[in-house]
Amino acid sequence: MRNTMTSTFSHRILGGLALTATLCLAACPPAADQKGDKKPGGDAPIAVTTIEARSNSTVKGTATFTQAGDKVKVVVEVSGATPGQHGLHVHENGDCSSPDAKSAGNHFNPGNAEHGAPDKPAHHAGDFGNLTVGQDGNGKLELLTDQIAVKPGTTSVVGRALVLHDKPDDTTTQPTGNSGSRVGCGVINLQPASSPPPAADSSGSPPPSESSEGH
Ligand code: CU
Ligand code: ZN
Repeated sequence: MRNTMTSTFSHRILGGLALTATLCLAACPPAADQKGDKKPGGDAPIAVTTIEARSNSTVKGTATFTQAGDKVKVVVEVSGATPGQHGLHVHENGDCSSPDAKSAGNHFNPGNAEHGAPDKPAHHAGDFGNLTVGQDGNGKLELLTDQIAVKPGTTSVVGRALVLHDKPDDTTTQPTGNSGSRVGCGVINLQPASSPPPAADSSGSPPPSESSEGH
């Protein structure tokens, strides 16, 4: 008798749990609503640069570096460039002051590697390969790399320079890729926070399961 009652009781509990789970499945927002692990605002630091003409070129451009976990998404857009391929690198000095941009120094190379293509195992962290410019003078390059960072550290690109070259990077000639003069240069800086951080970031706030839903 006692055993039977206990058994019945636990079945009721299990039944109740199952019912709760079913209700939640029906009532909770679909998983697609919560874009999940990566939130673009909050803790993803972004660095930016404005590319200015050097070596008597007419190049202009912008670039963004967005930290996404252990990788950085790089987007570079230029205009006023000559059609064709142009070597593109992060250089070690955040100094574009000289007319030929040589003030930016060598390729950014925190890993003490050889110059190469960004899709090969060994290359300077700052080697972005080539940016292709069309007949209209515009070009764009997108790259996802774990060789650089936006957050502080030895591989951070903040305080360095992005340099566009006149000629293609052959990705083999050491240590430059033989990409000719420096026609565009921009110092990479952290993007200033465009919107104030949410007050809920102060210590002791609960996990964001409910508070983030209303964005
Ligand atoms: Cu370069
Ligand atoms: Zn290089």
